[in-house]
Amino acid sequence: MAEPITEAQPLCASGDLLERDKAIVFDVRLWRAPARAFALRFDGKVVAYMNRCAHVPSELDWQEGQFLDMDKRWILCSVHGAAYEPADGQCVGGPCGRGRLMPIATEERGGMVYWYPSRDIQPVVFDDAGPPGDTAAPESTP
Ligand code: FES
Repeated sequence: MAEPITEAQPLCASGDLLERDKAIVFDVRLWRAPARAFALRFDGKVVAYMNRCAHVPSELDWQEGQFLDMDKRWILCSVHGAAYEPADGQCVGGPCGRGRLMPIATEERGGMVYWYPSRDIQPVVFDDAGPPGDTAAPESTP
């Protein structure tokens, strides 16, 4: 089995994440299965979590990239309204109980945002055959 990837993964330019604005949603592999994560800027800091509610493992955003409530104070699950603290992902209200969002480490340097894979959360990597589902036949040569 291949060693887990641990090096920083480029996500976006720092300027792409504005304070309490739309999040960047990105593909990862969670426990080897396709899943999605998101990153947003809150109180100047970039935070990232799995796009997966602690109540029922469904995606949180009500529209792609829209995670915050109308007051831009809480991360709100669009399914049953669980509220999470953006700074640490802790549930603060609703059916998520004592749960919290799964955090992803991030770093900002040189005008870029990076995220760090963990044992459970890995980047999507394509082998030489291309992305999954890419079934286009190779061009034949006469
Ligand atoms: S799935 Fe998020 S609150 Fe129920």
